Amino acid sequence: MRVFQSLLLFIPVIVAEFVPGGSFGRPTIGPYNNCSGELTSRPKDLAIDTLPNISPDAPSGWERWDLTMYQDGLFLSMRWIQGDPASSHSVPADGTFELVAKFANGTSYATHTSGHKLTSTNDTSLYSITIADNTLSWDDTQTSFNTTLSLNGLTATFSSESIMLDKFSPYAGWIIGQLTENLFSGIPMTRGRTHVGSIKFPWGQEVTLKADSVLTHMFSEEPLPTLATSYAIRVFRSSGKDFGDTFIYESSRAPNTSEYNAFFLGRAENRGPSFEPYTFYAGTNNELLSTHQANSTSISAQLAGCAHTNNVPFSWNFTLPSKPTAEHIDSAGGKTSYFIASVHAAEPNGNVVEQQSGMGFVQVYESAGAGLTQNIPSLGGEQPDPDAQ
Ligand SMILES: *[C@@H]1O[C@H](CO)[C@@H](O)[C@H](O)[C@H]1NC(C)=O
Ligand SMILES: *[C@@H]1O[C@H](CO)[C@@H](O)[C@H](O)[C@H]1NC(C)=O
Ligand SMILES: *[C@@H]1O[C@H](CO)[C@@H](O)[C@H](O)[C@H]1NC(C)=O
Ligand SMILES: *[C@@H]1O[C@H](CO)[C@@H](O)[C@H](O)[C@H]1NC(C)=O
Ligand SMILES: *[C@@H]1O[C@H](CO)[C@@H](O)[C@H](O)[C@H]1NC(C)=O
Ligand SMILES: *[C@@H]1O[C@H](CO)[C@@H](O)[C@H](O)[C@H]1NC(C)=O
Ligand SMILES: *[C@@H]1O[C@H](CO)[C@@H](O)[C@H](O)[C@H]1NC(C)=O
Repeated sequence: MRVFQSLLLFIPVIVAEFVPGGSFGRPTIGPYNNCSGELTSRPKDLAIDTLPNISPDAPSGWERWDLTMYQDGLFLSMRWIQGDPASSHSVPADGTFELVAKFANGTSYATHTSGHKLTSTNDTSLYSITIADNTLSWDDTQTSFNTTLSLNGLTATFSSESIMLDKFSPYAGWIIGQLTENLFSGIPMTRGRTHVGSIKFPWGQEVTLKADSVLTHMFSEEPLPTLATSYAIRVFRSSGKDFGDTFIYESSRAPNTSEYNAFFLGRAENRGPSFEPYTFYAGTNNELLSTHQANSTSISAQLAGCAHTNNVPFSWNFTLPSKPTAEHIDSAGGKTSYFIASVHAAEPNGNVVEQQSGMGFVQVYESAGAGLTQNIPSLGGEQPDPDAQ
């Protein structure tokens, strides 16, 4: 034993510092907007943040972009993946595109193509990622994410409009984009609507798309199970006559039991000829957000009001359906469940509080053995750093 220990001392410690691109990995100082009713500044590197951070030629690591869509009668999950997120032997050059469709009658259809190296373009007028013949593209404005698909007899062309010109990233440990330490994620399209296009299935059925959509982006150099035992990413939308609100609530638990929370609340408001975006809040582990889990599937969340809302808080109640719309088991036995939730919201608008209903996309990941859905992390954990300025 002693010999073994002294041998260990001579093994060189290789600390390969991974520096992600764009705004990922930079330190942050906390909420970038607190109820001012304006976007004080658009996040820089908005469009670049969506590009690959893991090179397809890198020796390890993984990255994935999930485009999830829902319209009456059709749920679609599309994933561009480099490497295997669950494996310590992940090879980024091994790219996979996969699609899952679930129809209203309960029938599902899944297809994928693997073993292709991801290619990308980095040019302000056209950024894109491609796996085989499946491309997601956007430009510097990030107003639309255009998709073309062609695999195994399935074809599609559509555009997802990103109503609001910003994005959302969590910042565990006060590092931009960290969901837990060294696990990076972001939502480049906070409030998407997919239209102008359709999908055609191999049996000839063509569906015109008019869907709510969300795009998430996640990557790391290390396998997911070593970085998180669970996380939940919840994106809720509600819309009134004059405005549409988006509420994002993320929570995660690291293997060492540290818990992190992040939230975003933005509104697109009808002002004159167009919808103008603004952000109320974006924050991490902040006392402005309070949540209460009524039972295993029902949560109510409240964000404090402010002068701009006559100090009336916002609240969202949501209940997850007992069965997920889709489920994915990874190579390490980790489970990701996708839910379409309905939500009831009370939202201040001028002098009134509007009662609205809306929908939500919820994605819950649990590593193998992490326990039941009940254990999605509660609020708590990291507190704001008082020395941050
Ligand atoms: C379910 O709906 C899909 C899509 O409309 C259709 O292709 C399929 O035949 C339906 N299945 C059944 C059993 O009705
Ligand atoms: C994209 O190009 C810009 C400008 O040349 C460069 O600063 C940036 O690092 C590139 N990003 C990626 C992910 O290649
Ligand atoms: C995306 O598609 C829209 C039309 O649907 C087009 O106006 C826009 O230029 C396209 N953007 C990119 C980056 O291809
Ligand atoms: C977990 O690890 C993080 C990062 O090293 C550290 O800040 C935190 O205090 C740890 N939490 C616990 C409960 O050990
Ligand atoms: C949780 O509460 C909600 C709302 O009251 C209810 O609809 C749901 O059935 C409850 N679920 C369980 C598992 O008790
Ligand atoms: C945000 O504004 C609210 C209400 O004015 C205030 O209570 C809170 O401390 C502010 N939070 C931050 C992080 O500035
Ligand atoms: C949310 O649920 C709580 C507790 O049942 C209730 O008091 C509140 O009115 C609900 N809020 C909305 C917006 O439905």
